[in-house]
Amino acid sequence: MKEIKEYVKDKKIELKEKFDSFKEKYDIEPSLVIVQIGDNDASNTYIRGKIKDSNELNVKATHLKYETMTEGELLSLIDKLNNDKDVHGVLVQLPLPKNISEEKVKRRISPLKDVDGFNEYSTVVPCTPMGIITYLKEENVLIQGKNALVIGRSNIVGLPMAKCLLDANASVTIVHSKTPLSELKDYVKKADIIVSATGKYKMLDSTFEFKSDAILIDVGMNRDEEGKLCGDLEKGLPVKFQSPVPGGVGLLTRVSIFTNLLKLMNENLNK
Ligand code: GUN
Repeated sequence: MKEIKEYVKDKKIELKEKFDSFKEKYDIEPSLVIVQIGDNDASNTYIRGKIKDSNELNVKATHLKYETMTEGELLSLIDKLNNDKDVHGVLVQLPLPKNISEEKVKRRISPLKDVDGFNEYSTVVPCTPMGIITYLKEENVLIQGKNALVIGRSNIVGLPMAKCLLDANASVTIVHSKTPLSELKDYVKKADIIVSATGKYKMLDSTFEFKSDAILIDVGMNRDEEGKLCGDLEKGLPVKFQSPVPGGVGLLTRVSIFTNLLKLMNENLNK
């Protein structure tokens, strides 16, 4: 399997060519607006990455950053962006301050511009599961008939990830914070593909027994005891492939934003 960094490098070359030919063919400049409220450290890092990717792909990125905002003001801003024909993708960075309902915001972004795939009527899959399933397929990982274990049941990762794996004909198990440890150990022992999205450092460590040819995908973004960035999994587990953090799933998620943007732009051409 290709390392994720290498894979993403190649994907970006492919995507840039597609954006460039779209631009040439239709004379439309792809444009993504990123809305941020507050100054969350992780959000700042994610957004820096997204803007860097935009620049590399010749996509115009506009970062609208506000110290504070009322829910009504944010919903009005989203309406304005939804109606702006020069804006093709709208991304509101999460988490939002407590005075704003994330659910209302997700529902307000037009499905035609929802690059995150957060809206229930979106035609695109949320970026993290999409990035992971595409990577596994393109790297020829056999999914059909395999035991896939998803740890975590969030709306933006765990649940859509399980659906993607089911669609690819895996036998899928979802476990979560209320699954007893002894049960979790049994599931891990039998799993061919494990996707962990818990936000808990060392959710899986060397005390677990793994299949030697297992594929581990680490969606966690945590800090270890020394404050260094780390995932959900202890490093160097005895398996066939373990995705690193940093330099792993985060890169796949970022690429998916642009895959989704291009898909939406193509779908919306005649609307
Ligand atoms: N915060 C953490 N991950 C994401 C993401 O994929 N999209 C948005 N909008 N916010 C996030």
